Amino acid sequence: MFSLKHPLPKLQWLVLATYMVSAVVAVEEQPKAPKHCSSSCGHLKIPYPFGVEKGSYLKGFRITCNTSINPAKAFLDATKYEVVNISIAENRVRVRNSVPASVAHTCSELNGSETDGPTAMINLTDTPFALSQNKFVVTGCNSLGTIKLGNRELFTGCLSLCHVKREDKTNGSCSGIGCCEVPITDGLKIVQTYVDNILTNESKIKEVLNETKISVPYRCGSAFLVDQHNYSFEASDLGDDNKFLTKIQHSTVVLDWIVSNHTCKEARRDLNTYACKGNSHCVKGSQGYRCSCNQGYQGNPYCSQGCQV
Ligand SMILES: *[C@@H]1O[C@H](CO)[C@@H](O)[C@H](O)[C@H]1NC(C)=O
Ligand SMILES: *[C@@H]1O[C@H](CO)[C@@H](O)[C@H](O)[C@H]1NC(C)=O
Ligand SMILES: *[C@@H]1O[C@H](CO)[C@@H](O)[C@H](O)[C@H]1NC(C)=O
Ligand SMILES: *[C@@H]1O[C@H](CO)[C@@H](O)[C@H](O)[C@H]1NC(C)=O
Ligand SMILES: *[C@@H]1O[C@H](CO)[C@@H](O)[C@H](O)[C@H]1NC(C)=O
Ligand SMILES: *[C@@H]1O[C@H](CO)[C@@H](O)[C@H](O)[C@H]1NC(C)=O
Ligand SMILES: *[C@@H]1O[C@H](CO)[C@@H](O)[C@H](O)[C@H]1NC(C)=O
Ligand SMILES: *[C@@H]1O[C@H](CO)[C@@H](O)[C@H](O)[C@H]1NC(C)=O
Ligand SMILES: *[C@@H]1O[C@H](CO)[C@@H](O)[C@H](O)[C@H]1NC(C)=O
Repeated sequence: MFSLKHPLPKLQWLVLATYMVSAVVAVEEQPKAPKHCSSSCGHLKIPYPFGVEKGSYLKGFRITCNTSINPAKAFLDATKYEVVNISIAENRVRVRNSVPASVAHTCSELNGSETDGPTAMINLTDTPFALSQNKFVVTGCNSLGTIKLGNRELFTGCLSLCHVKREDKTNGSCSGIGCCEVPITDGLKIVQTYVDNILTNESKIKEVLNETKISVPYRCGSAFLVDQHNYSFEASDLGDDNKFLTKIQHSTVVLDWIVSNHTCKEARRDLNTYACKGNSHCVKGSQGYRCSCNQGYQGNPYCSQGCQV
């Protein structure tokens, strides 16, 4: 590991943060569950309150199915991300990462100039969704990844460096060598991620490493949010950048949702708009409510007769 002679200016605005407040969501209610409580798009099953056809989804839960791709792909309108899995029981939807929209990725010339690295953003403001169960991952041998949490000036991040010897980068271990990660608090509606090469002078890096040539991960680095269980670092992630990008494009980010910004008490007052149907109950979310089947029942609480023994 090499040491940095000068403190990094970028570290000065690295402020650790664990909790924050997210914006209030505005969701209008459209109470009536459709006749068919489930549809599909390609391999994806789409349970209500998600839906494709007009009148078959709650506001904010519309899915566009692109059938000109085979198999068809589903996109969550409110976010534009591709949906790969919807679980009503877990209150989670998994959407696919995309480069450069949700993944900050750089492969820059190390010619000494301090250029700002790329920024990626996930913005769920004014949608029923929020980030849930994700971690922030940074890869590279020369990478400072930072993430802005929410709309306030709260940052966290981590540093990924490498030992000279390749064997030090071990599969499955994301602990600062070739890969670092930070847990991310649930409930955020907006994050912005950044990645920068720490050392920008190629000759200097060669000098420090005592190498005549520097490898790809000294120029290329990434910073992204990912499902806690959907990314595992492999040493080969650093070698072949195209292969790595393909892997990341297949990784997912987890979102959870509320169906309305009302409290359970408010929601129950108007049974015409109350989203929780038979054998289900209201569950308080961070900014509103969602529904869950009663104990002993399983299925879809948003559909009449959706929860069954
Ligand atoms: C919920 O959202 C609506 C707009 O859709 C807004 O008028 C209302 O004030 C919000 N309610 C709460 C409790 O935030
Ligand atoms: C979604 O993921 C769950 C496990 O998390 C799995 O049981 C289910 O089959 C998946 N559904 C689809 C359509 O991939
Ligand atoms: C569907 O996907 C194709 C191929 O990626 C694209 O050209 C087309 O614009 C998409 N259609 C819609 C409605 O988004
Ligand atoms: C260094 O490379 C960047 C592109 O990565 C370029 O914009 C910049 O002008 C270069 N600076 C010098 C001093 O050559
Ligand atoms: C890069 O580092 C080398 C070796 O330390 C030094 O001689 C050179 O002046 C540096 N170049 C820039 C642009 O800082
Ligand atoms: C996030 O999205 C909201 C609603 O679309 C928009 O008003 C806001 O400007 C966006 N924030 C940023 C930082 O782009
Ligand atoms: C790391 O994982 C890759 C693919 O999963 C495998 O090909 C490689 O042999 C593994 N390397 C080590 C040192 O375990
Ligand atoms: C640099 O590498 C060369 C050749 O691999 C070796 O002979 C030399 O001792 C190394 N220098 C340092 C300071 O480690
Ligand atoms: C991540 O999830 C996607 C979609 O469900 C799946 O294809 C991929 O194999 C998963 N990757 C890992 C490392 O779990």
